[in-house]
Amino acid sequence: MEIKAFGVIGAGQMGNGIAQVAAMSGVDVVMNDIATEFVEKGIGTITKNLDRSVGKGKISKEDRDAVLGRIKSSVDFKDMASVDFVVEAATEREDLKFKIFRDLDEICRPEVILATNTSSIPIGRIAAQTRRPEKVIGMHFMNPVPVMKLVEVIRGLPTSDDTFEVTWALSEKFGKTPALANDYPGFIANRILMPMINEAVYCLYHGVGTREDIDMVMKLGANHPMGPLALADLIGLDTCLAIMETLNDGFKDSKYRPCPLLRKYVEAGWLGRKTGRGFYEYK
Ligand SMILES: NC(=O)c1ccc[n+]([C@@H]2O[C@H](COP(=O)([O-])OP(=O)(O)OC[C@H]3O[C@@H](n4cnc5c(N)ncnc54)[C@H](O)[C@@H]3O)[C@@H](O)[C@H]2O)c1
Repeated sequence: MEIKAFGVIGAGQMGNGIAQVAAMSGVDVVMNDIATEFVEKGIGTITKNLDRSVGKGKISKEDRDAVLGRIKSSVDFKDMASVDFVVEAATEREDLKFKIFRDLDEICRPEVILATNTSSIPIGRIAAQTRRPEKVIGMHFMNPVPVMKLVEVIRGLPTSDDTFEVTWALSEKFGKTPALANDYPGFIANRILMPMINEAVYCLYHGVGTREDIDMVMKLGANHPMGPLALADLIGLDTCLAIMETLNDGFKDSKYRPCPLLRKYVEAGWLGRKTGRGFYEYK
């Protein structure tokens, strides 16, 4: 099946990145969010990214305009009636995603694949909200989407071979390298990454080290490009907490207990870069 029109639900840091790589691959994109200001912010980020690429001579001004011209803004879910494939990249909350998938199931044509960029919520549980569970799949992009090569493709129990093959091929069309993961909490990436980030927050909580020393140890000692606390700020502390909750609920093992300090930051609205304050402060 050829994907000509591609829908993205959520224009936040992941949604706008996914919309950008899709439009750069030549497909028409409808990018939806709950309010115009969020969609405009997403378009603003894409424009800034593309301008940077023009500045570096990676793309021409005509390419930039063509990419932007392929992205249509939407605050009406019904716009998804016209697309051939949807990726949902809304806030990491199970009730919210369940509702979105029930609505997409009503609006999208029956043959349309409904993918989710969830970081941790089981694909099977999301699929069960629809009457097309065989057409539901995880398409987990990494942050920042235009830069990171990986897409984790997650098959739920009911996901069909056809859905899997179309999603795999689409990831490649977007210039990404897909990896297959099965449907267990956190899949591969966050089952490994997030407990490490949570442990770094525990180190801060217990006073084992300062934020700078914790990050320095992992950068210079383990050769990570970013320290875990700076990475948590990039991901968003609300998303980190939601992933730890899913691991904790899914495995019922105390090693996945979210650090109380992480919860405290989220409760204070210190969500990382996106709110200007997390473990570090941002302008
Ligand atoms: N941040 C990361 O590093 C990262 C990496 C991979 C996957 N993810 C996943 O991607 C998803 C989005 O994360 P993000 O970091 O972009 O969050 P974000 O907070 O930057 O953006 C979420 C967006 O979803 C919108 N939204 C909320 N409800 C909606 C609805 N009903 N319809 C349409 N839009 C709605 C919000 O207005 C917001 O703009 C989450 O599932 C997250 O787990 C995040």
